[in-house]
Amino acid sequence: MHAEIVARLRCPVCREVLSELPGALGCRTGHRFDLARQGYVNLLAGRVPASPDTAEMVAARASVLGSGLFAPVANGLAAAAGPLHDGGLVLDIGAGTGYYLAAVLDRLPSYLGLAVDVSTPAVRRAARSHPRADAVAADTWHGLPLADDCADVLLNVFAPRNGAEFHRVLRSSGRLLVVTPRPDHLAGLEPPVAVDPAKAERLDATLGSWFHLEHSSEYVYEVSLSAADAHRLVAMGPSARHAPPAAFPPRLCATISVTLHHYSPRP
Ligand SMILES: C[S@@+](CC[C@H](N)C(=O)[O-])C[C@H]1O[C@@H](n2cnc3c(N)ncnc32)[C@H](O)[C@@H]1O
Ligand SMILES: [Zn+2]
Repeated sequence: MHAEIVARLRCPVCREVLSELPGALGCRTGHRFDLARQGYVNLLAGRVPASPDTAEMVAARASVLGSGLFAPVANGLAAAAGPLHDGGLVLDIGAGTGYYLAAVLDRLPSYLGLAVDVSTPAVRRAARSHPRADAVAADTWHGLPLADDCADVLLNVFAPRNGAEFHRVLRSSGRLLVVTPRPDHLAGLEPPVAVDPAKAERLDATLGSWFHLEHSSEYVYEVSLSAADAHRLVAMGPSARHAPPAAFPPRLCATISVTLHHYSPRP
């Protein structure tokens, strides 16, 4: 792992500084966390996460993102993150495969990136998402294993948000970029992928006391999908856990519809 990133990690058990040992990270109290051969470190500290994305969901997501369907959103995030000077850290919390983190790092050549996700199949991929990125398995809801004020940019794309923790780890001059689905996101797909219409209000309630919303931009566009693309779009989302596989026509249209929210930390 990059030494500058290890320096910003904290022991998930006792919150002490971590340092790199042969094949592991360790704190001076004696807690040790093996570095996986795939290049990530598991800092879940034995906690069993509630609903991490499965290997099948992560593989479907990697394939959908690789096809470029969400490239306009990735470009929007990269433009919103930069340009910035004087290298620092981009965090992606709930990073999945690290696709959006990699797009942002391409735009910020002097920055390092850290992908955090509760799913080990996700961090395994995210660790390889960019030469300047590392990855850790950790749970947003159990306190991030990160130093205070360690990040300059925090990305959160379709993933859970912990306002207090995001505020603690983001520098006061940093920016928080959040992508959420709009109610018509993936309209045209059968079965519909459920999007909670109360999401915008909930987003504000979650983050509003910690962050100031500077502005939002919407990305709404039609995509033409093969039946296989449509299956993968459903398989990468939460409905894959319970919905039976649907039969899709050979070609269909769907709407990608998301909002990118730009936040700054409240003092
Ligand atoms: C819908 S996916 C989005 C992944 C990625 N941001 C993207 O858009 O491609 C949600 C991600 O959040 C992760 N996640 C869910 N609960 C989490 C938690 N409590 N802490 C950290 N990550 C979590 C999942 O494992 C999954 O990778
Ligand atoms: Zn420790």
